[in-house]
Amino acid sequence: MPIEIRDATEADLLDHANLREQGYAFDARSTRAWIEQSKNGDLIERMIGAYDKGRLIGRLSVLNFGQFFGGRAVSAGGIGAVVVAPEYRSRGIGTELLEVALRRMRDRGELVSPLGPATMGVYRKCGWEIAGDQSVRLVPTVDLETLGCGPGQERLATQRDFDAIRKIYIGAASARPGMLARPAWMWDEHLSDQPHRYTYVVEDQGRLTGYMIYRQIKDRGPSGYSLVLEDLAAGSWDAESVLWRHLGAHQAQAREVRVQGLPLEALGLHLRDQRIRVVWDHRWMLRIVDAPGAVAARGYPFGLELRVPLSLVDPRCPWNAGDWALEVSNGHGVLNHAEGGGPSISINGLAALYSGCVSAQTLSTAGLLANATAEQVSALDAAFLGPRPAMNDDF
Ligand SMILES: CC(C)(COP(=O)(O)OP(=O)(O)OC[C@H]1O[C@@H](n2cnc3c(N)ncnc32)[C@H](O)[C@@H]1OP(=O)(O)O)[C@@H](O)C(=O)NCCC(=O)NCCS
Repeated sequence: MPIEIRDATEADLLDHANLREQGYAFDARSTRAWIEQSKNGDLIERMIGAYDKGRLIGRLSVLNFGQFFGGRAVSAGGIGAVVVAPEYRSRGIGTELLEVALRRMRDRGELVSPLGPATMGVYRKCGWEIAGDQSVRLVPTVDLETLGCGPGQERLATQRDFDAIRKIYIGAASARPGMLARPAWMWDEHLSDQPHRYTYVVEDQGRLTGYMIYRQIKDRGPSGYSLVLEDLAAGSWDAESVLWRHLGAHQAQAREVRVQGLPLEALGLHLRDQRIRVVWDHRWMLRIVDAPGAVAARGYPFGLELRVPLSLVDPRCPWNAGDWALEVSNGHGVLNHAEGGGPSISINGLAALYSGCVSAQTLSTAGLLANATAEQVSALDAAFLGPRPAMNDDF
């Protein structure tokens, strides 16, 4: 009997939760929270399962949110919690689940698909490619303690601050490719009360100008704790510096702040020494689900006018494959069907280019873009390169 792939119903939720728990060795508390989140966020219908004789043996979720590219939120289907039961691995079930997910996303109008990979082969084969930074860095607290800081004052946040927090986040995230336009269920998770988790805001003349969320984890024996910065956004360096100084004040108990995915370039411009350490060099991946839709939905630099023919290679999504012309004008882009003759780009290459993670020159060197003239390479870079793409959400 062949493996059956189908969407989940409420009756399947516990099986999905148990397989997820097995796949990642999560504890029962995390599973209970995931079940609640799935019910409250209407996420069950976004789960896909693979069944052998009625038993769930593979699963994934396709979560809907926006992802910022060129300042605009592009509708995304984020792939989460992909698990195949150990005794069924390397038989193509993960691949089949991803192929069904791609069709579902296209039908629903989700244009791009990000994910945080534990392993890349299966995703790369299906058209996902490295597209942005999600590295884990350690920032010495002693270096933060000596930062000069702006006029604002930090205080613990209350529920009344949550709307302002979301606005501050959108202001910062929209300027950084790859950051998510978070849906309500994701914000509920970020802002929920958790033991040893603290949300602080910066207030300056009655106005909130920044916030951060961090955890203190007692995992260092009798003395000290780990300090994990989950989220931080600010409208100015003045506000941001207050938050970093606050983290520096933990110096007696925590030697470093652990940061995953958050861009630290602004901080790097103020620290006296280069002592931020990357402890896990990790990248997130992206799949272009609907190439013309994705090109039209993102933003482009103003004042840029260009036309580049592209021959797009996408064996798994025939709706993307073929000859196109990329046209950019007045901050907008379109991908129109065109006669052939342009450079050839794989769907993986387009994902890395689209996010701004990799230059067209690097794609050429890596063999993901072929037959591009020097003029076409610089036109593609002018359209897509910008701030280094980042993402500090896990899903
Ligand atoms: C990652 C995971 C989901 C992949 O699922 P899977 O069903 O084994 O994936 P597939 O079989 O489709 O592909 C995996 C590999 O098996 C190979 N494969 C596919 N069909 C095969 C077959 N019939 N015979 C032998 N190998 C095969 C694929 O080529 C692929 O190799 P690659 O990594 O070199 O590309 C699975 O290993 C898993 O559940 N891991 C634990 C949880 C986890 O880490 N999840 C990922 C989170 S991002």
